Amino acid sequence: MTRTTPDEVGVIACVGAGVIGGGWAAYFLAHGYRVRAWDPAPDAEQRLRHLVDAAWPALTELGLAEGADLANLSVHRDLAEALRGAQFVQESAPEDLELKRRLLAGIDDLCAPEVVISSSTSGYPMTDLQTLCPHPERTVVGHPFNPPYLIPLVEVVGGKQTSADTVAWAAAFFTVAGKSVITLDAEVPGFIANRLQEALWREALHMIEAGEATVEQIDRSITDGPGLRWPVQGPMLTFHLAGGHGGMAHMLDHFGPSLLSPWTRLAAPELTPELRDAVVAGCVAEAGGRSIDDLVAERDRGVIALLRALGRA
Ligand SMILES: NC(=O)c1ccc[n+]([C@@H]2O[C@H](COP(=O)([O-])OP(=O)(O)OC[C@H]3O[C@@H](n4cnc5c(N)ncnc54)[C@H](O)[C@@H]3O)[C@@H](O)[C@H]2O)c1
Repeated sequence: MTRTTPDEVGVIACVGAGVIGGGWAAYFLAHGYRVRAWDPAPDAEQRLRHLVDAAWPALTELGLAEGADLANLSVHRDLAEALRGAQFVQESAPEDLELKRRLLAGIDDLCAPEVVISSSTSGYPMTDLQTLCPHPERTVVGHPFNPPYLIPLVEVVGGKQTSADTVAWAAAFFTVAGKSVITLDAEVPGFIANRLQEALWREALHMIEAGEATVEQIDRSITDGPGLRWPVQGPMLTFHLAGGHGGMAHMLDHFGPSLLSPWTRLAAPELTPELRDAVVAGCVAEAGGRSIDDLVAERDRGVIALLRALGRA
């Protein structure tokens, strides 16, 4: 059977409808797709509709595609039913290797053979996820960022058994759907952005554990510091400018040796109950009474303002 071309896709199945699956559903609905969702949790439909409703004002402000309608969302009791007629599948189930292996094999078994199946996994290589799939060549990673309905980036990478055609199709599809796509040539552990994010997070946890910084200080050090530059120029161009007219060459010659400083701790700290509780308490204190819904709305307003200011929305 011939594969639907990326610009002809109209119906998408979202399998797993938590923070990420729900965010994908909201994004696809706002871009005019019909979304068929499945999630085994008893309260999944209620959670999904709450998430989509919360995302809708931001998506409306950014401009809905022609035909975009919340009524294009259907939630199904059965995986096979949700996959019926889907021309693309985005899997966003929990980050559990065995669960995802079995789930992807089940989706692969139930879907029309030409349909591309993409996983939101944050770090498992598709080579490890596709082992039970009858048609592993049509499985690919499409790694989003929270919230998928506002953050443009998707990292696309195939596994050893994924066909080059599937990787190219997925990259083209996400691009048509309005995403900013990076296609990875190799299965880099943690992909690109998570490698970078987690290096930062690891150092933050070390500082909290050692009593060197509070949760609030860590957040402000980024939001009022380097974080302001990153939406404009990434960390590499940022340092190119930090080297003055000597650019990155001066930067490397000047500060390169300090990369061996003792404050770069490459091993992750042990997540003791004390560290876990200190980080959680710090976040609650920093939230200062704002609920998760309040923080989501605040974040969405800020991201939209940034995207607009930079001419990206
Ligand atoms: N949270 C993030 O910032 C983020 C970012 C990028 C990618 N991801 C990835 O997205 C995926 C989902 O993460 P999340 O943060 O949305 O988790 P989540 O816990 O919010 O949602 C997971 C959902 O999967 C459902 N589920 C449980 N078992 C299932 C099954 N067998 N089949 C289908 N669905 C099932 C749960 O009911 C839940 O609604 C993970 O692979 C994660 O690594 C997360």
